[in-house]
Amino acid sequence: MKYLLSGLLLSMLLPASPAAAETGYSAWLRYVPIENQITRRSYDGMPASISALGNSAVIQAAQRELVLGVRGMLGKTLRTEGRPSNESTIILGTLDSVNQLDPTLFFSGNLGDDGYLIERVTLNGHPSILVAAASDRGVLYGVFALLRKIGLGKPISEIDERQIPFAPIRMLNHWDNLDGTIERGYAGASIFFEKNNVVTDLSRVRDYARLMASVGINACSINNVNANTRVITTEFLTQLVRVAEVFRDWGVRLFVSIDFSSPQKIGGLGTFDPLDQGVAKWWKTKADEIYRLIPDFGGFVLKADSEGRLGPSAYGRTHADAANVIARALKPHSGLIFYRGFVYDHHMDWRNLKNDRARAAYDNLQSLDGRFDDNVVLQIKHGPIDFQVREPASPLFGALERTNQAIELQITQEYTGQQRHLCFLVPMWKEVLDFDMQAKGSGTPVKDLVSGRTFNHSGGGFVAVSNVGRDQSWLGLLAIANLYGFGRLAWNPNLTSWQIAEEWTRMSFNGDPRVVKTIVQMQLRSWPAYEKYTGPLGAGTLTDIINIHYGPAVESSERNGWGQWHRADERGIGMDRTMATGTGFTGQYRGPVARMYESAETCPDELLLFMHHLPYTHVLRSGKTIIQHIYDTHYEGAEEANQLVRQWESIKGLVDAQRYEEVLNRLEYQAGHAQVWRDAVCNWFLRMSGIPDLKKRAGTFPGRVEAESMKLEGYQIEEVQPWEAASGSKAIKCIGPGGRCSASFPHTVKPGRYDVDIQYFDQNNGASRFKVFVSGRLVAEWVADNVLPTNKMDAHSSTRRRIRGLTLRPRDEIRIEGVPNGGEGAPIDYIEIHSSRRR
Ligand code: GCU
Repeated sequence: MKYLLSGLLLSMLLPASPAAAETGYSAWLRYVPIENQITRRSYDGMPASISALGNSAVIQAAQRELVLGVRGMLGKTLRTEGRPSNESTIILGTLDSVNQLDPTLFFSGNLGDDGYLIERVTLNGHPSILVAAASDRGVLYGVFALLRKIGLGKPISEIDERQIPFAPIRMLNHWDNLDGTIERGYAGASIFFEKNNVVTDLSRVRDYARLMASVGINACSINNVNANTRVITTEFLTQLVRVAEVFRDWGVRLFVSIDFSSPQKIGGLGTFDPLDQGVAKWWKTKADEIYRLIPDFGGFVLKADSEGRLGPSAYGRTHADAANVIARALKPHSGLIFYRGFVYDHHMDWRNLKNDRARAAYDNLQSLDGRFDDNVVLQIKHGPIDFQVREPASPLFGALERTNQAIELQITQEYTGQQRHLCFLVPMWKEVLDFDMQAKGSGTPVKDLVSGRTFNHSGGGFVAVSNVGRDQSWLGLLAIANLYGFGRLAWNPNLTSWQIAEEWTRMSFNGDPRVVKTIVQMQLRSWPAYEKYTGPLGAGTLTDIINIHYGPAVESSERNGWGQWHRADERGIGMDRTMATGTGFTGQYRGPVARMYESAETCPDELLLFMHHLPYTHVLRSGKTIIQHIYDTHYEGAEEANQLVRQWESIKGLVDAQRYEEVLNRLEYQAGHAQVWRDAVCNWFLRMSGIPDLKKRAGTFPGRVEAESMKLEGYQIEEVQPWEAASGSKAIKCIGPGGRCSASFPHTVKPGRYDVDIQYFDQNNGASRFKVFVSGRLVAEWVADNVLPTNKMDAHSSTRRRIRGLTLRPRDEIRIEGVPNGGEGAPIDYIEIHSSRRR
């Protein structure tokens, strides 16, 4: 009997078997049955009906969501009643409507526009649950919060709460082009546009709006900041109306990005001078037209005088002139203009050591503090350069006392692995948000400045560039945690990274403690690992900065006007941004912060090369020299990427097979690409500095056989650019007639079991086929059809194929056969043989 009971108890506590195949489309809103039976039972007494007070679209959406969620998680179908009848019920309504229903439920506190309360109350003598807010949207947020609590397994005794969001602005930006492509999008085509129109079927947009609402996001701009003027033409506005309608049901306000020259380009005026009366009138007429069609339109996002976009400088006017002329057109309709602080000159002379792109936002905008209208929000990228893997907080945050501001973060992983690499950015964002700018003495973290708390502004907050696409999982199965994390931080930046990762994991996968611990740890380790194998000590991400922003290309940032210089040469590395001898950037921070960054002694190591140019032999706080730090971190980071694979493998069978396999493939790819990074960066610095790695790793590659040294049939040896993108700077490419080539060599390792890595180039202009034979026996074959952002043999396409547990006998011949396809010549860099790791 005892045995039977404990077996029963065990089955009640064990998680349900992992759900069938999942694509990730539902993200964290899966609403699968809650696993913990004790928690589930605690909801047994939950009311069986909902009374929604009011019938706005948002309240109706909230009601439907609650029915859906409760049915999924608790297996009960809630009845929907117009008014509470004589039974327990869940009341959804605004504070006003609740007060009318029963004045004893009167709530006198302030929940702001979007805050909510969830409370167990007694109504007509029946225990009920109240979800109330000042606005319909707040009620919706309350419903999502209630569902989240159930999903996280909180017993009913823990459901009461009151929440007010940290800031009014919680917004996503999209860089979608009207033709359906997305600038810096890595998860498929636009969900908003195709063939220069808004998509016909908006169901995907509806599902996206629901995801946004579930984490409290209340605004979204849908087109590229490099804006097409057509977006606000009369003809296009009717299409935008449809998007606004879909957003409206979920409490999301539609914004669009505009081109500053619109009055001239689409308005037919001879000018777009912001101080011209005709231009002011044009913007006013345009705003009136938009609001007639979309009464709750949010407003505009504007990128001006940056990266070739036209702006007020064309007429010698200020950014305040530019922002205000549009703000005044929007003002009568309560619209906002987000004016981007990302203003800089991309034709700077790199030879002038005083030039500095990092200074640009502050230099361009700080002196205009107080001159922007109150419906202008300055939207400032979190760092002074451009979403690098490590940057200090932008000094502009601490320098504006009379201007609304919002921080701009980037969910789409432009410089952080483009979603092929796992890089959970919440810890990075938190470091910036928590950084004390000392703007009014100490205690003024960025989150307080941007939310308007420090200098008492009403409008400010959080914006992130999302760029979800049509891939089933929106951004990527694990990458979408960044979208969730942004929403949660924008609501409450005091949540910890662990809390956010844990919530996301439980709802997106399951609550098995092994799953939760493993995925949370993987997420939390991913940004530090990525930083280690890409960019050292704040020098920037050592990627190709001209175009692709993905694989390593150490010198691409140098000797051009883009200003992402790290100035590495034979002797040292880093930008001297000090006041004493450099660009003076450190002086843009308030006193104590400026002093900390000014001295290499007090500047934190992780930002040392952002602020200082130092010799490779400079000793860090860790006791290591800079050069040794570069070698060590690149080897550590690549090894940590390998560990991510092992960690994921440890939960095989505990998550559904479809997502397991997809994530595993990505992680294996990442581990291979982390090694490409490691080798390119270490080789480059070894050659440049001439200083050997004390641990003798850089420049020596045990078990590696270069393809160019093999016996080649039909393959030709080619130089690869930049040289560090290929091992030995060369690779082989199949040009043989007959369209089939081979490369072979007799291995020299002792007999045993080995993992064999084939390093090849997977370009996007073909899908070559590879076969590997060991003494004539086929041991692996694959098609190189990954979608990587290049049609060349380079560090963006360099890919590792690992063949595990291969038995090699003395003098076995290893032969790779390559069949080119399209413009891709089945290119190979090298083969590496390692003892099989123990599992
Ligand atoms: C980066 C990015 C561009 C983008 C720009 C911006 O430079 O690479 O694609 O347009 O930021 O934020 O405006």
